[in-house]
Amino acid sequence: MKILVTGGAGFIGSNFIRLILSRYPDYEVVNLDKLTYAGNLDNLKDVEQNRHYRFVQGDICDMDVVDKVMDKVDAVVNFAAESHVDRSIGGPADFIQTDVFGTYVLLETARQHGVGRYLQISTDEVYGSIRAGSFKETDMLEPSSPYSASKAGGDMQVMAYHTTFGLPALITRSSNNFGPYQYPEKLFPLFITNALEDIPLPLYGDGSNVRDWIYVTDNCDAIDLVLHKGEVGQVYNIGGGNERDNHTITGMILKELGKPESLIQPVADRLGHDFRYSIDCSKVRALGWQPSHNFEDALQETVKWYADNRWWWEKIKGGEFLEYYKQQYGK
Ligand code: NAD
Ligand code: TYD
Repeated sequence: MKILVTGGAGFIGSNFIRLILSRYPDYEVVNLDKLTYAGNLDNLKDVEQNRHYRFVQGDICDMDVVDKVMDKVDAVVNFAAESHVDRSIGGPADFIQTDVFGTYVLLETARQHGVGRYLQISTDEVYGSIRAGSFKETDMLEPSSPYSASKAGGDMQVMAYHTTFGLPALITRSSNNFGPYQYPEKLFPLFITNALEDIPLPLYGDGSNVRDWIYVTDNCDAIDLVLHKGEVGQVYNIGGGNERDNHTITGMILKELGKPESLIQPVADRLGHDFRYSIDCSKVRALGWQPSHNFEDALQETVKWYADNRWWWEKIKGGEFLEYYKQQYGK
């Protein structure tokens, strides 16, 4: 089987490629990635020599490039996206371009090539916030941020290509991932690396917002299962079942590192900040998936990975990130 993975140099995509290459030694993986600020070939250093793996730098919005890499591809898994809510508030244009138009380019090219399976990697954020209970795949989409609205736009295109053209397409919507190789703008890697550097941890609002955390390789396991066994035209929610508020997560990180709570710095709340995400995952569980990581152990492992791999994040935090950080947090 030959798989085109798009956005494979990012956080989840790189973990997915590593899993596929080790689990299916005869599969071919082509990784198409634009290498935006979030794309990082360091994430795949350990597999770059694998003869079943090939990297192509390119934009999913560029139909000529996409057409070339789609040659003889059996399946497409689309991770490529602008993925950070705060950046989407600062400037939505790139999100609409990549997450909506880029998805369309992939779908159209996949249709022309008669690709056997197209899997769109989406997010629980498309449902919007929920005070009590959990969203099912059939619930209405009510995205709040330019990021989640763009992802919802991509999802709609995927479903339209399935319904109108019979493209064998599926969607996964996962909850918040954490683990190794996550760009340090997101909560876990930002707070862990700031704490390691004794820099304040900017906690939005009163820290009571709730996310359902999933360890990244558990999500990759579920994506693999849906890719091989999911029913086309269907959506699958993938959640870790670990709902925690941000204040609790922050306290756990600080405790793990032996750092004081005085590092927590309450800052102005994010605009339109979704209070809680929660998804019902009975559908993917019925396919045979369940997370294999205990939350507390996975958090401990993740903290240790960032502590042991300063080479990976210190150069990121010294580059483009500094400008972003200054703009976002005012210092
Ligand atoms: P990420 O930001 O770490 O990586 C995104 C990757 O896509 C980068 O390598 C980047 O270079 C690449 N990319 C961006 N625009 C591109 C373009 N136009 N053409 C080609 N490549 C492009 O993101 P992530 O956290 O790994 O998320 C991957 C996917 O999973 C995204 O679609 C995201 O919406 C979704 N998702 C993420 C989470 C999470 O918690 N991180 C949760 C649910 C869903
Ligand atoms: P994030 O990792 O950006 O994921 P998302 O917004 O897509 O869920 O943020 C997770 C939660 O952490 C969210 O409620 C916002 C909060 N947060 C902070 O309090 N401070 C920060 O500096 C960041 C980046 C996030």
